[in-house]
Amino acid sequence: MSTIPTIKLNDGNAVPAIAFGTGSKLFGQDCASSVQLAIDCGFTHLDGAQVYGNEAFLGEGIKRSGKARSELFIVTKLQPGTKPREVRASLVESLRKLGLDFVDLFLIHSPLMKPEDGTLQELWKAMEAVHAEGLAKSIGVSNFMIDDLKAVLSVAKVVPSVNQMELHPYTWKDAGLAVEYGLANGGITPASYGGLSSIFRAAGGPVDQVVTPMVERLSKEYGKSVTPAHVLFKWILQKGGIVVTTSSKEERLKEYLETFQAPDLTAEDIRAIDQAGTEKSERFYWGNPDKFRK
Ligand SMILES: NC(=O)c1ccc[n+]([C@@H]2O[C@H](COP(=O)([O-])OP(=O)(O)OC[C@H]3O[C@@H](n4cnc5c(N)ncnc54)[C@H](OP(=O)(O)O)[C@@H]3O)[C@@H](O)[C@H]2O)c1
Repeated sequence: MSTIPTIKLNDGNAVPAIAFGTGSKLFGQDCASSVQLAIDCGFTHLDGAQVYGNEAFLGEGIKRSGKARSELFIVTKLQPGTKPREVRASLVESLRKLGLDFVDLFLIHSPLMKPEDGTLQELWKAMEAVHAEGLAKSIGVSNFMIDDLKAVLSVAKVVPSVNQMELHPYTWKDAGLAVEYGLANGGITPASYGGLSSIFRAAGGPVDQVVTPMVERLSKEYGKSVTPAHVLFKWILQKGGIVVTTSSKEERLKEYLETFQAPDLTAEDIRAIDQAGTEKSERFYWGNPDKFRK
């Protein structure tokens, strides 16, 4: 159960390298039994958000699991459009729903829907205030591109610890620039959602064509089954990223957690996946970010 490695954040806190998410398929759903199942399978990092509308069910799943609070890493994200002066109250309401005294990580969900009467800088100061109060042990951002990171870093006393992004080979050409900028400017750890997109949201594309022979080669070398999910998660993990994924199926949750026993990719494998990703840039969440920018 304790085979999940942790990644040290720039504030010194440790985050389990893979998370079970309660958005996407579970958006707006009663996710309590799914959360309980994920924890029973060995997940300790749970990714929620105010906008998913299911924080109370996430809290219920945590409670039912019987797992000690100290063994769990719980994330929530600020509802897009929240005004800076409402940040504290919104987090307190999340904590009430979750049944917790603090979250391990609180993220600005998106820079694309700025509050009418505020800026990203003011929003970040409000995030720093809840961090100072201990309501969030770490604070970070999500879906931030380089300009958004620059805006926050221009005022930050606490550098964001994480930038959670749609990160897979088909977004790497652009998202990879923000990853590299974040790592070079304060050690902002990237977290990837949508990491399995090439398998089923864009099946049959150039990434499949390089991942399939890698899966065969690695399975032979390892003597056990290595799956496309293992390869795609390794691709993220070996770039220093956190994996945020989900599944409704126990076998798949177990498969995801076996990533840490599977063999690492070579530098050449990683380059081949990067290259295949550039042949077909595609995003599956948040549409074209330029459409949302004011
Ligand atoms: N910050 C943000 O703006 C943002 C945006 C989106 C998501 N997220 C977070 O990231 C989490 C994960 O996002 P995601 O769902 O996009 O992650 P993902 O890892 O790309 O996809 C997970 C999905 O992959 C499916 N899957 C896995 N292997 C498959 C296969 N071989 N064939 C077909 N389907 C397969 C699973 O379906 P089954 O259920 O059938 O196993 C599961 O629903 C969300 O729950 C949320 O917490 C954050």
